Amino acid sequence: MKRFNFSLSSLLLIAILISCNGKKMTEVVEVPLPTAQEKVSIGYPDDVKANTGSFQLDKLPYAYDALAPTVSPLTLQMHYSKHYLTYTNNLNNAIAGTEYENQSIDDILSHLDPNDTDLKNNAGGYYNHSLYWKSMAPNTGGVPTDSLASVITRDFGSYKNFVTSFKAEATKQFASAWVFLIVDKAGTLKVTSSQNQDNPLMKNAPIQGTPILALDLWEHAYYLGYQYRRRNYIDSFFNVINWKKVNENYEAALRRKY
Ligand SMILES: [Fe+2]
Repeated sequence: MKRFNFSLSSLLLIAILISCNGKKMTEVVEVPLPTAQEKVSIGYPDDVKANTGSFQLDKLPYAYDALAPTVSPLTLQMHYSKHYLTYTNNLNNAIAGTEYENQSIDDILSHLDPNDTDLKNNAGGYYNHSLYWKSMAPNTGGVPTDSLASVITRDFGSYKNFVTSFKAEATKQFASAWVFLIVDKAGTLKVTSSQNQDNPLMKNAPIQGTPILALDLWEHAYYLGYQYRRRNYIDSFFNVINWKKVNENYEAALRRKY
């Protein structure tokens, strides 16, 4: 059989050489670009609106393709316009006509009954995603500056130690989860995580505090771009962290009244 394969391959090669008839073998085949009608549009974040209710989507502060390759355009479009929209609409439905209807999202998370799964999941989903969008920005990354830089050194020993701690917390998650950098009641920075859409502001949080940076580890946040390589997504997240915004979140968390 091997002899036959070799003979067939040899004949095929000879046939190709003959058909080339002196033309260069490196000839480039031109593929026509898609026409305007064939291009797929993923739309615009500002076109996405929640139903009438207490909460509206937090504006996505960049375009769907702005965070590539860390977050692919289709991932961000689906995440913002489908998942986040659904949490927001469900939150509005869950609080309509209740004591929570006119409360801030922080107050809702702090006061809700952790056994109220519907409210917990959707209020948490709204808050967590709103923070996640603001935790990132194009052309950012690098290291923290401003007051946050010295506080990270104070509470973790160094920025490198913080990165190690954050990545370790993210890597050990098994199912749908979030990793946060939080400010606890004493003003100390800590890394913590939650399952599903739980949040450190909730009564049932193992480590309570105000989140100032969030990483979404649900599969919908990365699977289109990374498949099973979640670790690559975690590493790449550090290329798009908006440390200027995280510093603002830190300053606001210190002013928070418990
Ligand atoms: Fe998500």
